[in-house]
Amino acid sequence: MVKIIRKNEVSKQKIDPLKLVDLSNYLLTIIDYQGTFVYLNDEWEKILGFKVSKLIGKKCLDYIHPEDRQKTIDLKKYYKKSKRLDHFVNRYVHKDGTISYLDWSAKKVGNMYYCTARNITQEMKHTQIEKEMQKIGKIGWWVVNVKDNSVAWSDEVFRIYGLPVTKTVPVKKAIKFYPGEAQKTISKLVEDGIKSGTPWDVELPFKSKDNQSKWVHTTGYPIYNNKGEVSELFGVFKDITQDKIKKDQLRFYLDKMIANSQLATLGEISAGIAHEINNPLAIIQGNAERILLQIERGDVSLDFIKQNAEKIIATTSRISNIVAGLKSLARFDKEPFENVRLSQIMNEVSNMMSLKIKSNQIEFRLPEISDKIQIQCRPVQIEQVIVNLIANSIDAIQNLKKKWIEVRVDVQPSNIRLSVVDSGSGVPKEIQAKILEPFFTTKQQGKGTGLGLSISRRIISEHGGVLLYDPSQKNTTFVIQLPLSRK
Ligand SMILES: Nc1ncnc2c1ncn2[C@@H]1O[C@H](COP(=O)(O)OP(=O)(O)OP(=O)(O)O)[C@@H](O)[C@H]1O
Ligand SMILES: [Mg+2]
Repeated sequence: MVKIIRKNEVSKQKIDPLKLVDLSNYLLTIIDYQGTFVYLNDEWEKILGFKVSKLIGKKCLDYIHPEDRQKTIDLKKYYKKSKRLDHFVNRYVHKDGTISYLDWSAKKVGNMYYCTARNITQEMKHTQIEKEMQKIGKIGWWVVNVKDNSVAWSDEVFRIYGLPVTKTVPVKKAIKFYPGEAQKTISKLVEDGIKSGTPWDVELPFKSKDNQSKWVHTTGYPIYNNKGEVSELFGVFKDITQDKIKKDQLRFYLDKMIANSQLATLGEISAGIAHEINNPLAIIQGNAERILLQIERGDVSLDFIKQNAEKIIATTSRISNIVAGLKSLARFDKEPFENVRLSQIMNEVSNMMSLKIKSNQIEFRLPEISDKIQIQCRPVQIEQVIVNLIANSIDAIQNLKKKWIEVRVDVQPSNIRLSVVDSGSGVPKEIQAKILEPFFTTKQQGKGTGLGLSISRRIISEHGGVLLYDPSQKNTTFVIQLPLSRK
């Protein structure tokens, strides 16, 4: 039932504001001049672990963290000048040792202190965690106030700038720390951010107050007011100088690795080779055993021995070829450029990959390749690149329903385009830009080094060609474009 209360009735009702005391989740207390608890509300029991009735008459100092006692005693001096206290923080200790941070407001009335306090332990923890995160992650945040064109920074941003911590900084000043072109870029980003709310995510060169050249990663996002205008911009700010240096170092090592011919898929090839050698070995063993058996039975025909011996010789030469291939792989960087038939290269590749393709039940489509198509190249390197692409395809489609890999060959007047297409539906957009970078991999730890594509790209560019991912295709497509050899 709703009871309508008229205005004049309200004023007639008896109001007892003290009831609010029971309701409040603030800590309320009255302390006398000697620092003794005279009154406490029930909330105190949560903070100190004692019944309120047990606390009355006790000295508050006994429950304050020892490190905060002196500053609390010193408040007496403060009250000589002023009657009211705001935002004084000290720590109280629960009987089980738990510490609570309390944020006090208090007033001196006669010889008594009337006090309210808020438990800010969680906030203090969060602030502390945020500070630690900024320190460890070296990530700062900033907020631009569009109205007065000022920007507030976290401590980490001040550190990156090399400036003492203050409240806010004019946006104009903040932008001055970006050198040359970068200054134009960031000015435009801020301008567009304010005008149309366009977010950004960029890496730019930067120069700190003490003239240190750095690289920073900054992002920006808009906050709108109720009129739909951008009222604030905020984002993160990170010093990425060290990352940049590391990347350059990686590139240096990568060059070295290529020079030393330590190819990422060497393991892949070795596995193929082991298989290739084990098979003929089994054949040789079989032939020899058969001869032995016939001799033991005393039923030896010269024809039979001849047949088996011929098989043994043929199979041995197959092994010699494989070993020769291995040798050339080991010194492939010194290998000279030669005119090689594409069909020959593709044969080698098929041989190396056939086992893996079969065991994964993948349909492999290879077109007829005319013997006329020749490329001037280091053949083992080109084989390596195609093997890399096929290996990537196998990994990518392993769990798909439809599993196929197709090699397409497209001869143009002076180029040849070789595409490796698989039944996958493309590389996700977010990572397309990264896949060719060294050490980028989405594979489980220990499975991929993330070097396959970057090494391949390097090899192809050393051949005067390009290796690229073609995002316009329905199925995942990598394209190798190589110059055709002049005859
Ligand atoms: N055919 C493909 N389909 C989908 N994603 C692919 C394909 N090829 C490459 N990628 C993506 O590109 C990443 C980088 O490939 P890359 O060959 O450089 O390294 P990797 O295969 O991860 O490792 P490694 O080649 O050393 O074994 C892969 O981890 C994968 O995410
Ligand atoms: Mg790979």
